[in-house]
Amino acid sequence: MDMQLTVKIIHMSIVTLLIGVVIARAFTLFVGVQGNQPNPVARKLLVALQHLSMTLIVLTGVTSLVIKNFEVQSWFYAKIVLFLVLFSSLIKAYKKDDSILLAQRRAGLAIAVVALIGIIGLVIIKPNFG
Ligand code: HEM
Repeated sequence: MDMQLTVKIIHMSIVTLLIGVVIARAFTLFVGVQGNQPNPVARKLLVALQHLSMTLIVLTGVTSLVIKNFEVQSWFYAKIVLFLVLFSSLIKAYKKDDSILLAQRRAGLAIAVVALIGIIGLVIIKPNFG
């Protein structure tokens, strides 16, 4: 199997892990919340898996870029913007700061989910922006 395909398969497998972690962690903002803080059960595991998946997605993504000699289509830039939105809104949603209200955390999660769905839509449809 060639290198490009292998890296792409790893990239997509880790994306599946990220989707699972985002869904699992979302429950901590609705079930067993403690004041403005999310449910602490399995926090360490969820944080570790989220860090691991985000890091590996970026690493395999950058590796794919190098293999492809940075020859990307225009929708790729939209994907990166949405990835940054996903990244920052997940940080907002789960930051260990008691001044962030639960409603704000849930709003952060909602934005993250919309960004993730947007990225998945982009990679499926691969729109041509002219
Ligand atoms: C949650 C975020 C992400 C998701 C859901 C995602 C998903 C995917 C999927 C499904 C593909 C395969 C598309 C196809 O060829 O049919 C893909 C390819 C690719 N991704 Fe991502 N990706 C994400 C983040 C990133 C990031 C951050 C980068 C860059 C740093 C990146 C770079 C790439 C590249 C370069 C390819 C093309 C690989 C190739 O054609 O060989 N991705 N991505």
